[in-house]
Amino acid sequence: MHGAPYRPVACPTMSSAVVIPPLDIPPLDPDEVHVWTVSTEATAEETEALVASLSPHEQHRAARMRLPDVRRDFIVGRARVRHVLGRYVDQPAHELDVVTRVDDKPLLAGAPGWFDFSFTRCGGWHACAVGRDRRIGIDVECLTDAHDASAIAATYASPAESAWIRDLPPTRRRAAVADLWTKKEAFVKAVGTGLLAPLHAFSVPLEGDGFVDAPLAEARRRHQWMLRSFTPARGVTGAVAAEGAWRLTLLRYPA
Ligand SMILES: CC(C)(COP(=O)(O)OP(=O)(O)OC[C@H]1O[C@@H](n2cnc3c(N)ncnc32)[C@H](O)[C@@H]1OP(=O)(O)O)[C@@H](O)C(=O)NCCC(=O)NCCS
Repeated sequence: MHGAPYRPVACPTMSSAVVIPPLDIPPLDPDEVHVWTVSTEATAEETEALVASLSPHEQHRAARMRLPDVRRDFIVGRARVRHVLGRYVDQPAHELDVVTRVDDKPLLAGAPGWFDFSFTRCGGWHACAVGRDRRIGIDVECLTDAHDASAIAATYASPAESAWIRDLPPTRRRAAVADLWTKKEAFVKAVGTGLLAPLHAFSVPLEGDGFVDAPLAEARRRHQWMLRSFTPARGVTGAVAAEGAWRLTLLRYPA
């Protein structure tokens, strides 16, 4: 199904056909993780057409969103992520059945056994990560000056991470904590515990990419977890965690 020819999709709810932007999915190699960042820019007409790509539960969530920009970001971001995921598993976006495990990690019902994914959103930034035969977690954060980097570090950092942050020049501290936080969240999403995991009980690579140092139950089963950072835009921090060693391919939709 990779690289299958693109066919314009006419939305049945619109009087004029609304075309889903071209979506070219490159092959996903076994040692590769694809990260898609998704633009939520869309006209009002496109936004309403994309509602049909959401699940009934997501449509209900969108309907409860009062602020028009928040609603638009959710509808367009989630719908486009669904279009991306659907191409990997050869299913139309609106038919994807996202179910949650007991710990809330989402799974795609009926997807092939090799398929794992994770998604995240922050303001107008939506992203998903897809991999083969490895568990995956992704996080994107838009940390602003309003976030207290020292408080985040004091509450969630491991002793090694706290010491490293303390020694940083103040001008580097906020970006360092944003990177640390997204890496930690990506890891707990890959493992599936979410924020219920003791975040101070494991350490992520402090500068650049690398492996998690984690005494969590999952890590005790001798899995290695690699973390890589990416920057979707200025002021936005992203990180992906996945089992084993792998390389990251960044993709955008629409291109
Ligand atoms: C999962 C969690 C880390 C997400 O953090 P976030 O920054 O708010 O949200 P993100 O946009 O990055 O990710 C949201 C997506 O994570 C996924 N997710 C939820 N729980 C997950 C889990 N346990 N493991 C992996 N992924 C999970 C869902 O797909 C969710 O998407 P949706 O709710 O929009 O459909 C966090 O909400 C969490 O840990 N929740 C469970 C524990 C909890 O409720 N703790 C109370 C707060 S401390």
